[in-house]
Amino acid sequence: MNPTGAPRKAAESLAPAATTLPQGYIVSKEVFAKEQERIFSSQWLCVGHPTQIGNAGDYFVQEVAGESLIILRDQKRELRAFYNVCRHRGTRLCQDKAGRLRRVIQCPYHAWSYGLDGRLLAAPHMDSVAGFSKSNYSLQPVALRLWEGFIFLNLAQHPEPIGSVFAPLAAKFTHWNLPKLKCARRIEYALKANWKLIFENYSECYHCPLVHPALSKLTPYDSAENDLCEGPFLGGFMPITKGNSLTMSGNACALPVGDIAAEDHHRVFYYSIFPNMLLSLHPDYVMVHQIWPQAPDRTLIFCDWFFHSDAFGRADFLPEDAVAFWDMTNRQDWHVCELSQQGIASRVYSPGPYSPRESIPAAWDREYLSVMVRK
Ligand code: FES
Ligand SMILES: [Fe+2]
Repeated sequence: MNPTGAPRKAAESLAPAATTLPQGYIVSKEVFAKEQERIFSSQWLCVGHPTQIGNAGDYFVQEVAGESLIILRDQKRELRAFYNVCRHRGTRLCQDKAGRLRRVIQCPYHAWSYGLDGRLLAAPHMDSVAGFSKSNYSLQPVALRLWEGFIFLNLAQHPEPIGSVFAPLAAKFTHWNLPKLKCARRIEYALKANWKLIFENYSECYHCPLVHPALSKLTPYDSAENDLCEGPFLGGFMPITKGNSLTMSGNACALPVGDIAAEDHHRVFYYSIFPNMLLSLHPDYVMVHQIWPQAPDRTLIFCDWFFHSDAFGRADFLPEDAVAFWDMTNRQDWHVCELSQQGIASRVYSPGPYSPRESIPAAWDREYLSVMVRK
């Protein structure tokens, strides 16, 4: 996709050993299963934004590491997450992808009913069962925390505190107003490509001249300046040298998203947040990709466009100008990711050398490999 070539100082000093991942990491079912366990069952994952469930009873369902989870806002307006599994005989509770619950979640099988705080409130005919207590059969909760206003879940029994995970980013995005932004649009993409190819693609603009002619006119492909070059959070900014934003028209399409510095009104920031979030900050909107691996060669992507809540309803609010630009650019990226997947599956594929403009994909691979081998 977009940004970030090499950090300036390191541009010429990339180690010759930096190569793309071996084939097994992209095609193997065993590796995929290990990732689901090591990464997607134990790390904090972005699942959305509270404005997507603005009212009491609003919910959506998200599949994480093969588990169906309900994320909801309860009667006290607290955000909660539960396994979508009845405590009676295990039946799936919520069958729709999203909606509004009344006061309870009622199982479609024998009508056990749970409050939105997860407590079992009613279980027909169970009172006569010796030793049965409703208090022992609440829905199984999932750890939920907010980071910069986004909802994160963690399936681990004892998750690492989210504050320590995100400590390297403390206060970095405060002036972007992220908790108060509102989502105007979501597009879902189903890709025939491994999820890691999407991160690698996002993390360099070596491909931009050929793949993104329109983007390259607005932000020179070799202009990236990275400020996060190692670890789980990677990226930096690129200047917007023509027009005022990345939109079809080149104009800003909404009020500024935050209280950003003057120079940031002509920059686009691209950060990958390991392991499932891409955060792209424009002067007038924020785009967030959630990356959800489905199989070694299948990935689901949710792309959301967020705007300042005061922007909605104004005459100068033209979100489709941004959505159309990135929908076009996204599809260009997904196409080359799918082509990569096809070639990497070949018997003749072997890891290729990263260029000096691909230092961030190389760093992303290092982080990924360190998680995969960590004891
Ligand atoms: S399985 Fe849910 S009430 Fe029986
Ligand atoms: Fe791209």
